Amino acid sequence: MAILIKTDQEIEKMRTAGRLAADVLIYIEPYIQIGVSTDYLNDLCHQYITKVQNAVPAPLNYHGFPKSICTSVNNQICHGIPNSKPLKNGDIINVDITVIKEGYHGDTSKMFFVGEPSILARRVTQVSYDCLQKSIALVRPGTHLGDIGHTIQQHAEKNGCSVVREYCGHGIGQVFHEEPQVLHYGKPGTGIQLKEGMTFTIEPMINAGKRHSKILPDKWTVVTKDRSLSAQWEHTLLVTATGADILTTPSDTIQTS
Ligand code: MF3
Ligand code: CO
Ligand code: CO
Repeated sequence: MAILIKTDQEIEKMRTAGRLAADVLIYIEPYIQIGVSTDYLNDLCHQYITKVQNAVPAPLNYHGFPKSICTSVNNQICHGIPNSKPLKNGDIINVDITVIKEGYHGDTSKMFFVGEPSILARRVTQVSYDCLQKSIALVRPGTHLGDIGHTIQQHAEKNGCSVVREYCGHGIGQVFHEEPQVLHYGKPGTGIQLKEGMTFTIEPMINAGKRHSKILPDKWTVVTKDRSLSAQWEHTLLVTATGADILTTPSDTIQTS
């Protein structure tokens, strides 16, 4: 399957899906507190997505994933399954939301602090945030995917962090994960060139220690091999004539009912 260029009609639907996904992160933020379980956060998001937004949580049953959101805490890199364990002071947590609205996907994630995290936890969180922002700044027609990967890798490694290689950003539309693969490492001038109308995610997973990962026996949760902290931020982007539109930008005022 080739890389799809979205029509104006499709882009409108992608904007709606992206906005809804971003709104879920705004909605859930006040609930992310010491003592709360990720199951509870999952249940709140599930109700919000299905009842308030009249949308579908894409992770639920995706290749057998058992929950509606991904929650990845501390040394968990991505695809953490919400569970009954309470969050504790100093945890860092990535909440990854993907919604489907009128057949189109919006995918976004961000980090939250629980209580007062360590300097190192704040640092890896900031580095991953800056990796995403620096790479978004490069998005425009003609940019090579390798330019994006290279910028992320440079910034992470310059700051003593590492880039997870086993998971990547992705084209997105009617299909959750479509072409192209958007690697978070690479060489400038390599890979395909972006074209106006492409929609894809960038979602760098940055480790405080070494880059290597492993999957837990639950078959989903990806953790750092060396147990170091990991942080990730994600946006769904549209390539415009002159740059990027961040499709996962929240509403000014999110719906509450
Ligand atoms: N939202 C993740 C991504 O950014 C994918 C989650 S798939 C799941 O691509 F099955 F783990 F939910
Ligand atoms: Co994604
Ligand atoms: Co995601």
